[in-house]
Amino acid sequence: MMEDKFMENPSIFESNALLALSDKEFGQIRELVYNSFGINLTEQKKSLVVGRLNKLIKQHGFSTFQNYIDYIKSDKTGKSLTILVDKISTNHTYFNREKDHFEYFSNTALPQWIDHLSKSGKKRFNLWIAGCSSGEESYMIAMLIKEYLGNNFKNWDIGLLATDISIGALETAINASYSKTNVDHMPANLKSKYFNKSSSGEYTVVDDIKKMVTYKKLNLIQQNFPFKSSFHMIFCRNVMIYFDKPTRDGLVTRFHKFLDPGGYLFIGHSETLGRDSKIYNYICPATYQKATS
Ligand SMILES: C[S@@+](CC[C@H](N)C(=O)[O-])C[C@H]1O[C@@H](n2cnc3c(N)ncnc32)[C@H](O)[C@@H]1O
Repeated sequence: MMEDKFMENPSIFESNALLALSDKEFGQIRELVYNSFGINLTEQKKSLVVGRLNKLIKQHGFSTFQNYIDYIKSDKTGKSLTILVDKISTNHTYFNREKDHFEYFSNTALPQWIDHLSKSGKKRFNLWIAGCSSGEESYMIAMLIKEYLGNNFKNWDIGLLATDISIGALETAINASYSKTNVDHMPANLKSKYFNKSSSGEYTVVDDIKKMVTYKKLNLIQQNFPFKSSFHMIFCRNVMIYFDKPTRDGLVTRFHKFLDPGGYLFIGHSETLGRDSKIYNYICPATYQKATS
């Protein structure tokens, strides 16, 4: 072995080196993540997987990816899988992302449903934010509902369920404190009304909005959703982009079962239900409605 000219004990620096991930090991991780969460890790994601998992693997004392994979497979509690998906999933989001949806929601979809429910003598309005990540989207929707209902808000029972598979993202959502960058795209009136700004520059959602949203861990690829009632709207934006076509098709069919007739499905603007989706009516980009009959 060549003598190291600079260091007496080079091995103490070896821990900074990235562990190598063989194609076989990557294949096993892909299979685990796909079978458990529907997330389709393409070949291009290999370096992302190496980068995101290296530190975790070393911290837990595994010397190879294979040791780590064997451990996940033998862990019957499912905890190590939960930690894996926390590292692998992309949680990036921000307030007022894809704002066309929020305009359509406030100006059309929400007034339509509130009017319809009022005329039927109902005061319960149910929404599901599926793949809510760190909560920005669900709090945004809560703020818009509160704005629209105004003094009438107290007469309504608003059911706002927000779910995700990532525990880390859900913890951030429940904590409800965000950086300036996260709230940069908010309309100024909502920003000043619904956040408390701390001296360190954090924006924390006010309690009245926080308590409107219920956060739960839920895996979207599970075949049976545990809901007692259906929804008037489902938001599942920028989630299906990580799924393949059979997984997406299965999910939108399961969403359909839990939507009221005339209920809306909002998906990400870079996503599509496909031309062959006959169970929804296309309304406008990334916005669909369940047929009323
Ligand atoms: C990019 S974020 C989207 C956040 C927000 N909906 C938006 O449009 O900005 C994607 C989220 O989908 C979640 N996700 C991925 N696979 C999931 C699954 N099988 N079940 C539930 N959530 C999942 C991820 O944890 C992540 O928080």
